[in-house]
Amino acid sequence: MSQALDDREIAPGAGPALKRLIAAQLAAFPEHEGFLRRRFAAGADDFCESLATTIETIAGEDLARLCEDYRWLAGAVLEEELFFRREGRYRLSSFAEAEALVYADPAYMTRYMNGLLLSQLWWSNHTAVLAWFRDRYLPGNGTQARHLEIGPGHGLFLLLAEQDGRTESCVGWDISPASLALVEKTFAALRRPAPSLLLSNLFEAQLGRFDSIAFSEVLEHLEAPAEALARVHDLLAPGGRAFINAPVNSPAPDHITLFETPEAIVDLVLAAGLEIEDVLLAPAAGASLDRARKLKLAISTVVIARRPL
Ligand SMILES: C[S@@+](CC[C@H](N)C(=O)[O-])C[C@H]1O[C@@H](n2cnc3c(N)ncnc32)[C@H](O)[C@@H]1O
Repeated sequence: MSQALDDREIAPGAGPALKRLIAAQLAAFPEHEGFLRRRFAAGADDFCESLATTIETIAGEDLARLCEDYRWLAGAVLEEELFFRREGRYRLSSFAEAEALVYADPAYMTRYMNGLLLSQLWWSNHTAVLAWFRDRYLPGNGTQARHLEIGPGHGLFLLLAEQDGRTESCVGWDISPASLALVEKTFAALRRPAPSLLLSNLFEAQLGRFDSIAFSEVLEHLEAPAEALARVHDLLAPGGRAFINAPVNSPAPDHITLFETPEAIVDLVLAAGLEIEDVLLAPAAGASLDRARKLKLAISTVVIARRPL
């Protein structure tokens, strides 16, 4: 390993799994070194190491390909970012376009979700959201929670929910067959009992009753986010909780609804008749909240909401 790839310098405090993952990522994407150095400038914590171990286990022998897929995703997002800066809007505006380009194309979707899996570690806002899901959201669930994730994608959030001792049952709905295949792969790699999966648009799935719903990075993919939140409300049992995560000013190949402020998302959640338990704002790339607001940088906005009794 060259001095430039010395991961101890890139991520002070990194454990063995994170070191291996950084080395694999830089082998596929050497130009990302500066980004990763900034990402881990403050050091790597235990959550990073446990996440790196999980991602390494999911990737198995495909790790090099997943790192290539992350490189592809970073390029695709950069193109959308340039469009957004020029035009002040997201490129796509209809769900039908996003479905044809992304969800219905298994090769595209698999590459996208593989890249997104690695972004959970490489993008500090994604890591912060995942850690908050495990350490702040899940402990607030009652025992024997019936948990649903709408749009599990790569499956990491659903996996954390299943691993939490309070979860009694785990269900995932997704419109993309490739996503559901990846969720199955994630659970099989970790040798966890398979969740119950349904291939369906969230607006068409049969109503059930859940104590806990994860709805992470899906709202910005929809033409009718208010209706989607009304559906989350209706799917929750009275007193049930939801983890709602959506980014502001965050262009991506399949994002169609632009939220310009975190408050726009919080207001939508309230308008759906849900109460707010807590809010996390995590700006991308380590920016301060002030700077992110001023420069219209992406901010992951997470609302823990509750259906009133
Ligand atoms: C960006 S991924 C989010 C993955 C994961 N939840 C996360 O936060 O990283 C969005 C997922 O939502 C799914 N999705 C998009 N629109 C949907 C809809 N109308 N109904 C169900 N799933 C949908 C996509 O197929 C994809 O798997």
